[in-house]
Amino acid sequence: MSTATSIRQPARITRKLRGTPASDGAGVKLTRVIGGPQLEMLDPFLLLDEFGTDRAEDYLAGFPDHPHRGFETVTYMLDGRMRHRDNHGNEGLLTSGSVQWMTAGRGLVHSEMPEQQEGRMRGFQLWVNLPAKDKMVEPRYQEFAPEQIPVATPAQGVEVKVIAGAVGEVKGPIAQPATEPTYLDIVLQPQAAWETGLAEGHNAFAYAYEGGLTVGEGEDARPLEAQELAVLGGGDALTLRAGRAGARLILIAGRPTREPVARYGPFVMNTREEVMQAFVDYQEGRF
Ligand code: FE2
Repeated sequence: MSTATSIRQPARITRKLRGTPASDGAGVKLTRVIGGPQLEMLDPFLLLDEFGTDRAEDYLAGFPDHPHRGFETVTYMLDGRMRHRDNHGNEGLLTSGSVQWMTAGRGLVHSEMPEQQEGRMRGFQLWVNLPAKDKMVEPRYQEFAPEQIPVATPAQGVEVKVIAGAVGEVKGPIAQPATEPTYLDIVLQPQAAWETGLAEGHNAFAYAYEGGLTVGEGEDARPLEAQELAVLGGGDALTLRAGRAGARLILIAGRPTREPVARYGPFVMNTREEVMQAFVDYQEGRF
């Protein structure tokens, strides 16, 4: 009898793309990386927007009252201050380096407005789907200030803010058993390299936002430049190696729901009928 052994398979970039300029809310300029025509979704991820500008006119209009149902929105601020307020009485201020993991569940109406008149506003919004059994849960917030997000240093010249998931013994504060997400913000010093694991059966992507790096090993290594998204696959061992300028990137993974997606704007359900019901519930004030 042979004993099963786990053989390390190197992961590689299976697809690479750049986001497209978009506008959302009351006219906020951003780059849509997931959720646009190039990549409609990467189950369970429905959308990834990068916002990053020094021009106040690009963000001042903010995101006035709008609903969500059936999924989660994750806002990670790199720079800037954003105030959120919802129709259930929740309110908070997201400052530079903080994260808000909002489970919209059965529904809420909220606004997300910049609390600054000038200066840089930079960060990401990610939408994470919920499986059918969790789509109608009560809304829930997981919100953490920068000092509550642990930092791992798994290799020389490598610093990782662990928002969700784990790097060695360092565990991120976000809990979501439905998709078991990983959300890492990684800084690689020039030429620094890090080999990390990818959870089996999860979909994963990396998005570089400063500098450049190579992803993968040997013949499979491919470059990833700032503002490029890499869909990852083919294995469970991921090698990241920074170029001469170093690199900053987010590495995100989660277990796919593998369920049908019926999506219309801020409502993401399993069937068209459920989306219609969301419209009715919203219009009749049941959020
Ligand atoms: Fe929102």
